Amino acid sequence: MSTPSPARRPRRLRRTPTLRRMARETTLQASDFIAPLFIVEGRDILRPISSMPGHAQRSLDHLAPEIDELREAGIASVLLFGIPAEKDATGSGAWDENGPVPQAIRAIKRQAPEMVVIADVCLCEYTAHGHCGVLSEDGAVLNDPTLELLARASVAYAGAGADIVAPSAMMDGQVAAIRAALDDAGHQDTAILAYAAKFASAFYGPFREAAESTPQFGDRRAYQMDPANGREALREMRLDANEGADLLMVKPAGPYLDILHAARQEFDLPLAAYQVSGEYAMLKAASQNGWLDEERAMFESLTGIKRAGADLIITYYAKEAARKLAAWEAKA
Ligand code: PBG
Repeated sequence: MSTPSPARRPRRLRRTPTLRRMARETTLQASDFIAPLFIVEGRDILRPISSMPGHAQRSLDHLAPEIDELREAGIASVLLFGIPAEKDATGSGAWDENGPVPQAIRAIKRQAPEMVVIADVCLCEYTAHGHCGVLSEDGAVLNDPTLELLARASVAYAGAGADIVAPSAMMDGQVAAIRAALDDAGHQDTAILAYAAKFASAFYGPFREAAESTPQFGDRRAYQMDPANGREALREMRLDANEGADLLMVKPAGPYLDILHAARQEFDLPLAAYQVSGEYAMLKAASQNGWLDEERAMFESLTGIKRAGADLIITYYAKEAARKLAAWEAKA
């Protein structure tokens, strides 16, 4: 008996780059990417972050060339993290109007008014103990007293001209508290990107070197989510949407694509995913060892995140991916 010839041949549309491009369901574009930047207080500082090749802590005087490069690459938005010169128990540097982040916001808006500036709102870079909120005497992170501080920081960033504030502290009620404070201060048009489903992840390791925000004791598991919980992630997102979030985020991205996919089914709000420092560091390290083809691995990871449901991807690959995109889409 002769082997029957297949009635259906999906390979027909895989034959040439042009056919593949026509059949492609998910495409990336530079405006999908949001580039994180680390702004350090001080002058003439451009300190490379060893675990994140291509990234550095930069003082304000080293910001302009990077903004130019991002802009030329077609990146439409940046996410700012601040590293203050001094830290204290309450993280008061977070709402200092002349702190690194408000200064960077003003500088970017002067240089590139069309660039969407997002300010991360958290206390961990500003507290001496490295936790994301204020502490009780026995070292627990206090939810409600932290809300007011996150709100103050948000108002400071909005006042400096941020388009979007992005609370990442995982305190209950933080979106509602920030929305109310922004509105009270006349910042009705400042949007909130909620780090709605943020997991207590080992993949934040390199970021903590970059932002100098490693907790001095304990860990973040009493406020960030248990990686095992998918239903709870959707509940967190629902809460933030009801509190007035304008955009929702899942973080990290790669290990949580199921959450992204489920969130896409449930929510109409724009959905962001954060390909975090450890995800970037893994790809970089393996590539530098010659174990991965970096360009392909980079685009595969980003495409997977978008295919799962993300509209926007915060990624340390933003500039590199944007620069290589057109050529890659054509030949892939
Ligand atoms: C602040 C914050 C963290 C990240 C973003 N915002 C660190 C943390 O929660 O420990 C991680 C980002 C990354 O790893 O790239 N709370």
